[in-house]
Amino acid sequence: MNNFTFYSPTEFVVGKETENQVGTLCAKYEATRVMIVYGGGSAVRSGLLDRVKVSLAASGMEMCELAGVQPNPIDTKVREGLELAHSFRPDFLLSVGGGSVIDTAKAIAVGYHYEGDFWDFYAGKAKPAKALPIGVVLTIPAAGSEGSGNSVITNTKTHVKVGIRQPMILRPKFAIMNPELTLTLPEWQTASGISDMMAHILERYLSNTPEVQIGDRLAEGMLLAIMETAERLMENPNDYDARANIMWCGTIAHNDTCSLGRVEDWNSHAMEHEISAEYDVTHGAGLAVIFPAFLQYAAKHNAHKVAQLAHRVLGIADSGNAEADALAGALKLKSWLHDTLHMPVTFAQLGIEEPDLELLNTRLHNLKGAILPGGYMPLDAQATMEIYKLAME
Ligand code: NZQ
Ligand code: ZN
Repeated sequence: MNNFTFYSPTEFVVGKETENQVGTLCAKYEATRVMIVYGGGSAVRSGLLDRVKVSLAASGMEMCELAGVQPNPIDTKVREGLELAHSFRPDFLLSVGGGSVIDTAKAIAVGYHYEGDFWDFYAGKAKPAKALPIGVVLTIPAAGSEGSGNSVITNTKTHVKVGIRQPMILRPKFAIMNPELTLTLPEWQTASGISDMMAHILERYLSNTPEVQIGDRLAEGMLLAIMETAERLMENPNDYDARANIMWCGTIAHNDTCSLGRVEDWNSHAMEHEISAEYDVTHGAGLAVIFPAFLQYAAKHNAHKVAQLAHRVLGIADSGNAEADALAGALKLKSWLHDTLHMPVTFAQLGIEEPDLELLNTRLHNLKGAILPGGYMPLDAQATMEIYKLAME
């Protein structure tokens, strides 16, 4: 196991009606002027936003609102938010929504104290030194941004979708997670979220670092629990306990609990971000297309961890041939994503009949370099093209 530092200060408040604590939690973290950030309307339609505002008002908070964050959030919305923030001067940002809303708030949080354009951080030209504090009322278990130090934004001019990772300043102060709020999710969003959290676990699981048994077993246990619970949820979307388990799993899948002390991969995410940047597809659905293709490629080129996954999680018997078992595991996961989660597993099923693979691959390597530096399997342009092509089948 490698050395590590783990700083995860977020207070998680999980359970029914917990959104009514948002005012007291903001006060606890010394907020007085709260800028609320939310999405395209689900929080308004469900009445959640009103309940949040009542709770904030009861704790004496001044408020302003940034509405209309879209999935695959964009730089122009961040700039709109920064303009509002500079006139309102909040001392706290409250995200009411999912990854897109939280990531937009995080971008505003780092941009607020910076004289230049916030995109400098995402372009790697500057490193944020401080951020406004953030709180979250989570409405969709998926991206795990409520517990992560990451923010992913798309540049509308260049179609570059890229993340920053700053856990020391960007992990939220608190995250309110009421599973009841997720009962309004359409099946597509529920399933895409599950696909995303599984990918977050796999990006960490696929590692060549030896002697990481705790992380491996945590990851395997979470994947087994997600798959069992997801099957229940697909049958009965109103199953509160299934919703609760999935919601908590989305957080620990991505707050680094299972990746401490190891080198992680993250090449599948880089490959998917090119797809959602160009075609504006749902991130978790894009991963359902890319991840099985990536695992099929890995079966040929670095099978050991995929074979372990196949044996311990996917029910493939150990034949003594790691490559064959890894391939069987990859195909089993692909079928499960398609048959149980009803996710697309090819570009065509994702609604992209004729993807411009050359464009995706060129942008990918322009952004990440000639070799994608994945910790499990570095990939050159030929390798990533092979994976994109496997995702056509
Ligand atoms: O905008 P509204 O109307 O609220 O609708 C949203 C949106 O259309 C809807 N929704 C959310 N909660 C709902 C609901 N609909 C009904 N009932 C509810 N309770 O769901 C849609 C998707 O929301 P979004 O916030 O985009 O989902 P998600 O949490 O999957 O976030 C995706 C974004 O996060 C990034 C992705 O790339 C993508 O841009 N990621 C962020 C990460 C991070 N910060 O750590 C890591 C991830 O790997 C990921 O890259
Ligand atoms: Zn993801």
